[in-house]
Amino acid sequence: MAPRINPSILSADFARLADEARAVQGADWLHVDVMDNHFVPNLTLGVPIVESLARATDTPLDCHLMIEDADRWAPQYVEAGAGSVTFHAEAAAAPVRLAREVRAKGARAGMALKPATPIEPYEDLLPELDMVLVMTVEPGFGGQAFLDIMLPKIRRTRQLIGKHGLDVWLQVDGGVSEETIERCAEAGADVFVAGSAVYGASDPAAAVRALRERAQR
Ligand code: DX5
Ligand code: ZN
Repeated sequence: MAPRINPSILSADFARLADEARAVQGADWLHVDVMDNHFVPNLTLGVPIVESLARATDTPLDCHLMIEDADRWAPQYVEAGAGSVTFHAEAAAAPVRLAREVRAKGARAGMALKPATPIEPYEDLLPELDMVLVMTVEPGFGGQAFLDIMLPKIRRTRQLIGKHGLDVWLQVDGGVSEETIERCAEAGADVFVAGSAVYGASDPAAAVRALRERAQR
């Protein structure tokens, strides 16, 4: 599958979100990191800002919920206009029911795994999901170093998706850069989130093109 490049607005200027969304023309999705200062030690944005962003850009929104009580909140992000909603396995009490609810409301359903959470217990849930997100840093902050120790988990996840013959996207998030993206692609990832590597660049749209080119090698 052609790689998808999803810039993370966590590294954008939050006072200029609409402009920053438009600065990454050519991106496949806009990755929106929602943090509640409980699931992770950082606080970002919530439903009203997602609603406004959805109106401000044609790029579909890929919401990554780093929040507790995902069962309660995830459906509200679909209603806010997100095209994809990813909840953390560690934060969902009933992930099957939640994924079905997200899909029934019209969005793609993703499930994220923190670095210490294995994929194997979730093998039987894969048919219920549109995407698995393998975190390649501890969630909470942009600009952290890529964890190479996650490459085996990316490989195992790709194998499990293939074993069941599923069309489940495999996203990586954290420390993805021109230097690390090829390793992720080689391990089987096909959706790449990049925050600082895109918004830290002088030309964010060019950074997206450069990442795409490297992921295709
Ligand atoms: C971290 C977030 C990431 C973050 C990635 O918890 O989930 O989406 O924005 O930022 P970089 O690409 O700078 O590691
Ligand atoms: Zn994220």
